[in-house]
Amino acid sequence: MMVSLKLLLSSLPFLVNAQTWCGKNYMEGSPIVPPGGQFQYPETSDVPLLNLQCSPAVKPYLQGEAVSIIVDSRITFSKVSGAAPLGTYPPKSFEVTAILNGQSHQLGHVQLNSTGTEFSLPTNSLVARKEPYTITCVAKLATQTYETTTQLLYLEPPAKGSVTKQDFKTGSLLVKNGNSWEPIFPIGFYTTFDGYLSFRSDGRTRSLVDVRYAITSVTEQVNMIKDRSNLLLWYTGDEPDGTSDPLNATVITKELINNLDGGGYHPVSLVLNCENYYFAEYSAGADVLMQDTYIPTSNISDYGDCGCDNCKGNFQDISTRVDEFKQRLDLLGRSRSTTVWSVPQAFGMDTYWPRFPTGQEWLVESILGINHGSFGIIPWDDPTSAGIRWGSSALAAAVPRIIQFLATPGVEVTQSLENGVDTAFWQLPGTETSLFLVANTNYQNVSLTLNVPQNTNRVEILNGGATLSGAPGEIVLNLNATATSGWVFEGEVSVKTIKLT
Ligand SMILES: *[C@@H]1O[C@H](CO)[C@@H](O)[C@H](O)[C@H]1NC(C)=O
Ligand SMILES: *[C@@H]1O[C@H](CO)[C@@H](O)[C@H](O)[C@H]1NC(C)=O
Ligand SMILES: *[C@@H]1O[C@H](CO)[C@@H](O)[C@H](O)[C@H]1NC(C)=O
Ligand SMILES: *[C@@H]1O[C@H](CO)[C@@H](O)[C@H](O)[C@H]1NC(C)=O
Ligand SMILES: *[C@@H]1O[C@H](CO)[C@@H](O)[C@H](O)[C@H]1NC(C)=O
Repeated sequence: MMVSLKLLLSSLPFLVNAQTWCGKNYMEGSPIVPPGGQFQYPETSDVPLLNLQCSPAVKPYLQGEAVSIIVDSRITFSKVSGAAPLGTYPPKSFEVTAILNGQSHQLGHVQLNSTGTEFSLPTNSLVARKEPYTITCVAKLATQTYETTTQLLYLEPPAKGSVTKQDFKTGSLLVKNGNSWEPIFPIGFYTTFDGYLSFRSDGRTRSLVDVRYAITSVTEQVNMIKDRSNLLLWYTGDEPDGTSDPLNATVITKELINNLDGGGYHPVSLVLNCENYYFAEYSAGADVLMQDTYIPTSNISDYGDCGCDNCKGNFQDISTRVDEFKQRLDLLGRSRSTTVWSVPQAFGMDTYWPRFPTGQEWLVESILGINHGSFGIIPWDDPTSAGIRWGSSALAAAVPRIIQFLATPGVEVTQSLENGVDTAFWQLPGTETSLFLVANTNYQNVSLTLNVPQNTNRVEILNGGATLSGAPGEIVLNLNATATSGWVFEGEVSVKTIKLT
């Protein structure tokens, strides 16, 4: 929880002496009531379903830019919204048509059960405007017709200020550097700079502007800030699920901000604190959805007054939370349009967190987030400890290499957890070059052996407490308690064994 901030911002309309947190009675000793608002997982189908989805590749497009559409055609047994029975003997591939402004455009062929096929979409019927266009995608398989819709944002370039795009192919944000749009992986602390929550990235300070729900103040603040060149994104909701804000508050605020911000030149973010409390409703107001599970505290969650809602009290609470958020977004059909970031703990001496995490523990929190799909790390908060400053500098130095992998469309990700050691590989498509990140969540030494072909080029990009040894054909990484390590390999590398030592 971001308690300290809440206490400071007493003027907010929704902070009425919260008697509950995540829908649970706050104080131990009060009656235990079911909080409600549990995520509705879809039912299972007996027959395979086609989950046809279309999405623009980027949001927003600016007038004059080429527009492309990505098509996903996954086969699923989950009765997610829009999925329909596949029928017998479905073809291996099929044609998809997009309907825009009443005109039909044949996009091309898509393999059945594939993701990320990209097609260009003619823009001659598009006029730049603040309201999104609705595109209907249609596919015919044998006698069955499948239909799905998506929203395309096609804006006039802003007269002043910056634009931050979302890359729906990878989940990264894109900012303009000269003439090209480049992926950015934000790492930086919640802090106040010039009165706004800010963080440094690539040596430049970028602002994450905090605008809460009170309509008049949102309007005032957005109008004041929106033309700044270093504005990256808006931040609307600090744990709205914790305080049980109205369920429509995050969406109403997002729509208002988009409207004031030229139709949506910058994404809107918020952080959810509860494990499972009206997730679908609150997350609908986020382009960037953050989770703020901290280092292990207690695992008693019958009451709101606990450090971590529905947590088990180990580091896996962080990775589980990111996994759950991503899985639910996928089931809601929002996995491309919503990107997930993590908020690691960088404070201590507070209610449930008697000490600061060490620099190494901070890196574990962050690598767990990244290994499970987070595209930004925004620790709470600054000023922090010397150890965490060391850890965040080490991660920031590695980020230029990390983003090259994460922001490559079609990168193949292999993630696993064994003996409390969380590993992930990102292999660039059509190459043997991979990024490897590992976090030892044990308070105990670990020895991790990798199979590595001889003469494999390797570059260490992050060292959070690891030493290297090994013979030709393998690498042994000795990971201290809560150590992390990061490598780029040019060669087919895999995990052989992971042993507690
Ligand atoms: C669809 O693709 C997924 C992911 O590649 C795979 O696990 C699954 O077996 C495939 N399903 C069918 C019916 O081919
Ligand atoms: C938002 O929800 C509240 C109930 O919590 C309702 O009174 C209000 O009319 C809703 N606002 C809109 C714009 O739907
Ligand atoms: C979690 O709960 C179990 C059983 O109640 C307890 O033994 C354990 O100490 C708790 N862990 C933490 C980190 O609080
Ligand atoms: C863990 O490994 C380090 C060397 O990497 C060593 O200095 C330390 O003594 C080991 N600790 C334990 C508890 O074995
Ligand atoms: C591992 O921890 C030991 C102390 O337990 C320390 O002496 C050593 O420097 C650490 N190694 C690395 C690589 O951080």
